[in-house]
Amino acid sequence: MNPKPDLRLALTRSVEVIAAHQADTGAYPACEEFSAYHGYSWFRDGSFIAEGMSRQGQPGSATAFHDWCSRVLGAYQNQVGELVAQNRAGSTPAVSAMLPTRFDLEGQPGSDMWWDFQLDGYGSWLWAVHQHAARHQLPPQRWSGAIQTACDYLAEFWNTPCYDWWEEHVEQRHGSTLGASYAGLSACAESPALDAGRRDSARQAAAQIRATMLAEGTAPGGYLSKWIGAETVDASLAACVVPFGVLAPGDPVAEATLAKIEADLLVGGGVHRFAADVFFGGGQWPLLSCLLGWNHARAGRRGKAAQLLDWAVSQADFDGLVPEQVDGHLLHPEHKPEWVAKWGPVAKPLLWSHAMILILAAELGTILENK
Ligand code: BGC
Repeated sequence: MNPKPDLRLALTRSVEVIAAHQADTGAYPACEEFSAYHGYSWFRDGSFIAEGMSRQGQPGSATAFHDWCSRVLGAYQNQVGELVAQNRAGSTPAVSAMLPTRFDLEGQPGSDMWWDFQLDGYGSWLWAVHQHAARHQLPPQRWSGAIQTACDYLAEFWNTPCYDWWEEHVEQRHGSTLGASYAGLSACAESPALDAGRRDSARQAAAQIRATMLAEGTAPGGYLSKWIGAETVDASLAACVVPFGVLAPGDPVAEATLAKIEADLLVGGGVHRFAADVFFGGGQWPLLSCLLGWNHARAGRRGKAAQLLDWAVSQADFDGLVPEQVDGHLLHPEHKPEWVAKWGPVAKPLLWSHAMILILAAELGTILENK
């Protein structure tokens, strides 16, 4: 671990790293230096990256990303219409017919195999674009067509099993995926970019998601579960509280979820994804430490939040670059070599890691000048 760097310097570096990697098209590549991610942008990562830039004085960067998403989604309007019609006619579309998870920087699905069909990215995007619009007084109508398409897609398919944040377990309905759909549809329920009919459908679907999560998505211990029917947690579930708002900070289920994440997955400031994680040996993810910290900050526990931020910032290398995960504490070290052999060293810099540092710092009151 590096000595504690000055927070403003770390934030300036994070903004610089994100800005330097953002494509001319507006896309944020996840990590250009990592073989398996090179040349691709995820709606999930990008939504949080845009949120970080939007909060830290870089609204133009966030707008460019949302414009890119809007162009990408524009090409899927007809496909979503057909998928919705097919589903309503009683025939569930095949996983392979659903929208991609990631796109190349031009906005095409690309030709490399990926674990496509993940709903959360579209929910996160609807959440992020509305946050950005409200924060910078931009009319969300700028992104109307894409907002409609994503809203129709989620309102119809939110309860369909799909791959999770970690691109695993396509057979399950995952807590954090449901949470992202809830946040996106809740934003749609109030969106001036949508007609009243769509706003109503979005409101109803969001209410159903929340009811489903509370009725079926909690474990006997009173915490949200990794997927419906599971008894384990996943650190991504913290997002169901902050920022996705399924539960308010301080709510007993929210508190039980954070407590379970801490008990099972937090080791000295670093947060693991889930107990069975073998990816690169199952290390600690700075972006998840920041997500947990964001939750503590909103619940009024600023000291805990600041410690988590310090830990995340301290994972930067001498050049200020933050990786996807670190290996100071591995859950399944015997699995690390197979991943290094397959894909090379851990992804770095991971733009999503940098973005979460920007978000948590902003949440705690350190905000860089507007550019
Ligand atoms: C993670 C995803 C992430 C992607 C790009 C994958 O390893 O599982 O959550 O979106 O990397 O950063």
